Amino acid sequence: MSAKIESGDVLSSVENLIKEKSPWLFGGDILPFVYVRPENQISNPGTRNKLSWFRQTPVYKNPLRLEELEFAENLYYIEGKAFGPANMAMPRWVFYDCAVIPGFVAGFCMRTSALPANVRQVMRQPLVCEYTPLSLFIIIPTMHKGEWVAHNLCSINSLLPRAERYYGLGFLSKAFGLWYANVEECSGMTQWGSPALKLHSHYGHLEVMGAYAPVHSHANTITYRVKVDTGQWERFFTRERDYAFLEQYGATTDIIDPRSEESMKTLQKRIQDGKGPFFLSAHEIAEKKLQDPLTLYRSKTRSIDE
Ligand SMILES: CC(C)(COP(=O)(O)OP(=O)(O)OC[C@H]1O[C@@H](n2cnc3c(N)ncnc32)[C@H](O)[C@@H]1OP(=O)(O)O)[C@@H](O)C(=O)NCCC(=O)NCCS
Repeated sequence: MSAKIESGDVLSSVENLIKEKSPWLFGGDILPFVYVRPENQISNPGTRNKLSWFRQTPVYKNPLRLEELEFAENLYYIEGKAFGPANMAMPRWVFYDCAVIPGFVAGFCMRTSALPANVRQVMRQPLVCEYTPLSLFIIIPTMHKGEWVAHNLCSINSLLPRAERYYGLGFLSKAFGLWYANVEECSGMTQWGSPALKLHSHYGHLEVMGAYAPVHSHANTITYRVKVDTGQWERFFTRERDYAFLEQYGATTDIIDPRSEESMKTLQKRIQDGKGPFFLSAHEIAEKKLQDPLTLYRSKTRSIDE
């Protein structure tokens, strides 16, 4: 891996498109980071899920070393700002007990000396680390073999005016983590109507494991699962239709309405009654507004009245 993508490096057509939409990934000042305790380091990173997008050597941080505390404070700051409006900022003990000790924490960071004024303005002060985090992605292994749970995803884009955002920062943060940690299956939780669904639906065909979660602090939570498939990821940038999805799954006449708790309960009941599994189309989510109803898809190999 090189520290920077050199001008002579050959990029695929998809990488050229990513370079157009997300030039920051190729500039050299923004790098992926891996913030894991030494025992949780991934052996043979990036070998399971084939992808050439992440060529830069990640910045490694050991969360258990006191001199890295400032990096953690910056993570807390952006996370608190991103989730504060939803009243879901992560308590420090949750980060330590549920992420740092059992799991894998990653994201993108920028050389602090290269931070533009508009980004500095929204960050915690003073900025004293060599690198300042711009995003955060946490995954935790589960007891179900091969399955990890995506526990947190945020980016400073949510703190910047639209025109100043680093396009794809949230999407590529999760992509980097799934790729680097060789994740086979990824489940996760988000609230119906969240922009995050536009990202989560692109890592593999998205199954709705749960449509309503009163056990959570936000009952309007979707619990999803994807079999990680890097072949799907480029569609986040190309916006091409996924014909393999349409071949495998057929549209039902049922919908899920992100504005209706009744709709969530109905779908939850259908899942509980074994009428699923139900899937959502990444292409449809990308094309629609956040609050629009979404079509539910089912495997074509299941009979209609099953
Ligand atoms: C959700 C979040 C992680 C997305 O990351 P991001 O860096 O902003 O998004 P990316 O640049 O990777 O993706 C851009 C896409 O998301 C869409 N998007 C991002 N924020 C959006 C918003 N608030 N409303 C509508 N769409 C939004 C963009 O329009 C774009 O889609 P497009 O290509 O169709 O235009 C980020 O906004 C965030 O930190 N939000 C607060 C915390 C949160 O809700 N996290 C998710 C928990 S599961």
